Amino acid sequence: LPALSYRDDALHMEQVSVDELAKQYGTPCYVYSKQAILDVYQAYTDSFTSLDHQVCYAVKANSNLAVLGMLAQAGAGFDIVSRGELVRVLAAGGAASRVVFSGVGKTYGDIEYALTQGIGCFNVESISELTLINEVAAALNKRAPISLRVNPNVDAKTHPYISTGLKDNKFGITHEDALAVYQQAADLSHIDIVGIDCHIGSQLTEVAPFVAALDKVIELIHSLRDHGIELRHIDLGGGLGVRYIDETPVSIDEFAEALLPKLSELGLTVFFEPGRSIVANAGVLLTQVDVLKPTEHKNFAIVDAAMNDLIRPALYQAEMAVIPSTLPSDGIDTNGTKPWDIVGAICETGDFLAKDRLLSLEAGAVLAVTGAGAYGFTMSSNYNSRPRASEVMVSGNNHQLIRKRETVEALYADEILWQDK
Ligand code: LLP
Repeated sequence: LPALSYRDDALHMEQVSVDELAKQYGTPCYVYSKQAILDVYQAYTDSFTSLDHQVCYAVKANSNLAVLGMLAQAGAGFDIVSRGELVRVLAAGGAASRVVFSGVGKTYGDIEYALTQGIGCFNVESISELTLINEVAAALNKRAPISLRVNPNVDAKTHPYISTGLKDNKFGITHEDALAVYQQAADLSHIDIVGIDCHIGSQLTEVAPFVAALDKVIELIHSLRDHGIELRHIDLGGGLGVRYIDETPVSIDEFAEALLPKLSELGLTVFFEPGRSIVANAGVLLTQVDVLKPTEHKNFAIVDAAMNDLIRPALYQAEMAVIPSTLPSDGIDTNGTKPWDIVGAICETGDFLAKDRLLSLEAGAVLAVTGAGAYGFTMSSNYNSRPRASEVMVSGNNHQLIRKRETVEALYADEILWQDK
């Protein structure tokens, strides 16, 4: 992992020991590396430098203002799926004109807000959304820039919950209907057709599904041209996978190499919407072992993070690595090593972070769940009235709190006791 290393047996994020961070900020705590985030962003722009392109970071992966702010400063655009995410992007200094708005359920209010702010493009997922956007744009006396999100019906070969490009998914407009819907869009008075979009799923490790989707989209671009509809950009969505344990995802370079020849012939600006690949391995979740509970069948290590902090293992059976903040001094301490289930304190059997991990543990030890920079904090909740974790950014030997740990009082601050009348 780029920003993580052991130095004298102590785990460091960039130049800072995670034990020190755990001591100063408490646990559970998300820690991110600024350099790691910006390096991946840069790798995308470097790989596609021969083309006019725009990386629109998928805000849902990690929407902390500090993360958005540093990406905005580096020149990134953003892919959003709610009004809330747009408000965040603007608060972090991002430009609305570099934002694409995805998602199947945009409301009148969402569209009105986005148009007023000067959104770059709506990725339209249905005919009714298209007509609604036209209606809102007419009311505001504006023309709304749109792409259609087409569903190329390719199998992304990923977990079914995060696969989005198949016929029976709720996303996008089928390849067969796309031309007709574009023609409908061309007839709408307040719609400006600017692009075409597809996103087939997340945590893809192979390049073939991306190429298959691109081929389908290119086919459409040609038939649109034949019908007098010219586009300015093609948006290939996100989805590039990362290594959590032993996956071997295609690199950004290989990804670019496979797509570039086909893309350069098009003469269009290329958009990408990567989320996970930019932030996942830039982040860890630090958690402390509270209780060790070895039993006859299983050894449980109960830690202070739980499924409310990191739901990926419970929701997708996702496997994420768990590593100690301090290595046993003789390297791997085989004597004290046992298989442990790393579990939270929530009253659910599904509350686990990892199963059967060979570790040498004692109460008070700090562990790091790696790959936690994406879909970690953003998917966290307050189940069991657990305040959400703090977040910290590291850069070189500097570190800074970028989100305070929530207080219990804040959790019920908006609740109102019932008054008998
Ligand atoms: N664009 C669209 C339209 C999307 O729906 C997504 C993710 C992305 C871009 C970014 O995809 P990425 O580059 O991050 O793969 N919570 C799940 C992942 C859900 C992804 C949803 N859409 C997880 O933790 O694995």
